[in-house]
Amino acid sequence: MEKIVILDFGSQYTQVIARRIRECAVFSEILPHHTAASRLADPEIKGIILSGGPASVYARRAPRLDPALFDLGKPVLGICYGMQLMAYHLGGEVAHGAKREYGPGVLRRQAGCRLFSGLPREMKIWNSHGDKLTRLPRGFRAAARSENSEYAAIEDAARRIYGLQFHPEVHHTPLGKRILENFVHRLCGCGKNWTARSFIEQACDDIRARVGRENVILGLSGGVDSSVAAALLHRAIGRQLTCVFVNNGLLRKHEAEGVRRLVKRNLQVRLHYVDAAAAFLRRLRGVTDPERKRKIIGHEFIRVFERATEQLRGTHRFLAQGTLYPDVIESIAIGNNPAALIKSHHNVGGLPKRMKFRLVEPLRQLFKDEVRRVGDRLGLPREVVWRQPFPGPGLAVRCLGEITEEKLRVLRDADEVVVDEMKKAGLYYKVWQTFAVLLPVKSVGVMGDERTYENAVALRAVESQDAMTADWVRAPYDLLAKISNRIINEVQGVNRVVLDITSKPPGTIEWE
Ligand code: XMP
Repeated sequence: MEKIVILDFGSQYTQVIARRIRECAVFSEILPHHTAASRLADPEIKGIILSGGPASVYARRAPRLDPALFDLGKPVLGICYGMQLMAYHLGGEVAHGAKREYGPGVLRRQAGCRLFSGLPREMKIWNSHGDKLTRLPRGFRAAARSENSEYAAIEDAARRIYGLQFHPEVHHTPLGKRILENFVHRLCGCGKNWTARSFIEQACDDIRARVGRENVILGLSGGVDSSVAAALLHRAIGRQLTCVFVNNGLLRKHEAEGVRRLVKRNLQVRLHYVDAAAAFLRRLRGVTDPERKRKIIGHEFIRVFERATEQLRGTHRFLAQGTLYPDVIESIAIGNNPAALIKSHHNVGGLPKRMKFRLVEPLRQLFKDEVRRVGDRLGLPREVVWRQPFPGPGLAVRCLGEITEEKLRVLRDADEVVVDEMKKAGLYYKVWQTFAVLLPVKSVGVMGDERTYENAVALRAVESQDAMTADWVRAPYDLLAKISNRIINEVQGVNRVVLDITSKPPGTIEWE
């Protein structure tokens, strides 16, 4: 399949570039910055983008590239650091900027550069760079300038090598996507071949080729990724797939039935349902430390899952996982996920290597938004495809302190009200997450003529792009009032509702 390769020099926007290219219906792949030109010579690679990055080209440990890539005859687009590095290798001059240029700017383009075909003379752009190009390499001309730079865009049209000092991939460069479209379609000659439909066809062929006549197990959680993986595998191999769904007793109200209904109505896959609620709750008895809770749940899941797979009829050589592209990118940014250090995450994908399965990971090329599009295309219902993320340890991290059946009941009832009202207000699918948290606090209230002494529930609603940062949702007061009234009237055991107005950082989204 035709594709664009993005060499990663460590920019926080590298994945954004990859996503923008795919939004142009062209497949893109992120590779490490030092990838050899011989590998880039692959005829399927129609163009190369050099990402930005935090380094200066003069720094001793600055990430480098294989300069032979400029001789491959393929179009190259350098962005920010990528442009400076390109200029540095091709004989231009880069000055160490005393001050970082950061923020909005205006670009004035020259006529004739194909990167800007169909675009206005002037456009808003977003800058974020320290060094600056001061002399063009031979064969290049300035294609655009900004207030602060004569060389905001440069080109060597004959060799189809281009550089942009600003960031076309971010939303703050409103016409940036058109620039990238020009690059991939006009300059690299790519068609629009990367669609949910083409992905599904290709993925089904790949799955069949990989597993042959063998049986496959998939851990289904009811979340977007495992549900889409199940639908895709079912389309590819039908009854060779068995899904294992573990009810850990920490699910939301009606969740277990919801997953079973989904399997029956939409997926039609073979399901092995394991009700392990009692075992999980037994192991969690008396435990209050958040990290211990997470560890216990993670270990218990593996134990239950292993036992379940042993009980299945027939031999299963393959284990399918809903791994996504951001987890597999072989880039220098690897291990930079601070969230991973703060809480020990658990999800269905994290099964130990000692389980003697071969892996099938049909979503490993996809970003989350693409998984959703594939899910839509496969006919999964909106509630599944667009559902909010739900943590692997489930309600355990929203039921602070010790977990008991009774506290889970209170939390489930309160959570149901929150979700219901957010849906009715048309906000549920617009925000990242909304849920209730049961606090280990009791307070005094009055209901009717009676004094009450009951639990408090916190309401958490956040906006986010990727869960790395988040802000609390400014929900309308009337909606908040309705949620609060309903929880206190309908949920036995709660007499106070508070609103969490902490952003991330410094808070995290979940309370534990
Ligand atoms: P925090 O609380 O770290 O959460 O801000 C960030 C995002 O991750 C979700 N989350 C998890 N997801 N397994 C998961 O699959 C986990 O163990 C886990 N813990 C938190 C959380 O809901 C939020 O979307």
